[in-house]
Amino acid sequence: SFEQSLRPQYLKQYIGQEKVKANLSVYIEAARMREETLDHVLLYGPPGLGKTTLAVIIANEMGVNVRTTSGPAIERPGDLAAILSALEPGDVLFIDEIHRLPRTVEEVLYPAMEDFCLDIVIGKGPTARSVRIDLPPFTLVGATTRAGSLSAPLRDRFGVLSRLEYYTEPQLADIIERTAVIMETEMDQQAAGELARRSRGTPRIANRLLRRVRDFAQVRGDGTITRDMADYALELMQVDRLGLDHIDHKLLKAIIEKFRGGPVGLETIAATIGEESHTIEDVYEPYLLQIGFIQRTPRGRIVTELVYRHFQIDPLMEK
Ligand code: ADE
Repeated sequence: SFEQSLRPQYLKQYIGQEKVKANLSVYIEAARMREETLDHVLLYGPPGLGKTTLAVIIANEMGVNVRTTSGPAIERPGDLAAILSALEPGDVLFIDEIHRLPRTVEEVLYPAMEDFCLDIVIGKGPTARSVRIDLPPFTLVGATTRAGSLSAPLRDRFGVLSRLEYYTEPQLADIIERTAVIMETEMDQQAAGELARRSRGTPRIANRLLRRVRDFAQVRGDGTITRDMADYALELMQVDRLGLDHIDHKLLKAIIEKFRGGPVGLETIAATIGEESHTIEDVYEPYLLQIGFIQRTPRGRIVTELVYRHFQIDPLMEK
C-alpha cells in the first residue's frame, strides 16, 4: 500500500535511532554469517517512533517474511499455536502491544521462544494428555510502550532489548522531506523545520501533520508547502508552537486550574478531562515529561514553571 511504501524498508533508509540501528545491524550480520535465526528482539518506547517499521526492516534485512499481529488479537493459546505453526523457518513474528497478551497465551509463548516447541493439552480431566509439537525456528519481535509492564519471565526471553527515543528536530525534518519527495509534494525547507518543531519528536505525528498541511496547500494555495502555509494549517488544526494539541492543553490547564498546579493523581486527571488513564500515561504524558512540562512526584503529577510561561499565565494569580 501507499502507507507501507512511505516506510523505509532497510536500515540504510531508516533515519534516526542511531544506537538501535548500529547494534541491530551487528546482530543481523552475525546471525546471517552463522546462518542462524536472529535472537528475539524487544522494542520499547513511546508510540509512533517506528517499532513496526523496524520489525519489517529486521525481516527484510534477514531476508525472511514477517507476520504481524498484536497482544490483544491473540485471545487463546490456540490462536498463537495456529500462527506459530504457519511460520516458515527463520520468519519474523511481530507482536505489537505485547504487554497485552493474555496470561494463558504468554505461558504457551515461553517454550515456543526458548525451545521452538508447543506443549498442547488434548482432552479434559483424567484422560487429558500433553503433546509436544515442534515449531520452525523463528524470531519474535515484540513491541511495547511500557517495558515495565511486561512480566519478568517474558522480558527475560528476549536476547535483544532496544529502547527507541524521541527524534531530534533535524532527524524529523529529514523524515518529513523524505516523505514529501515520495508524495511528490513541493515544500520549503523552513516548512519542514516548522513541521519538525511541532511533531513532538514523533515521525508518525510528523507524517500525519505533513499530509494535512499538504491538503491545505492544495485547496487553499498552489500546492507548495511554504512556511506560511504550514503555520496557517497548523493553527487551524489547533497544534501549537511546541506541537501540543487540544488534549495536551486540556490536561495541563486542568492541573493548573482545578488542582493549583498539582500534585494530582493520574486517575483524577483522567476523570477530570474524560480520557483513559492508559492513553494519558502511554501517549500524552511521556512527551510532556520529556520536555519538562510535567513531573511525577510520589503524590502525583505537577506542572512546572515552563507550562505557566508557555500559556503566559502568572503562577501567582493561579496559586
Ligand atoms: N518514516 C517514518 N519514520 C521514518 C524513519 N525513522 N526513517 C525514515 N522514514 C521514516
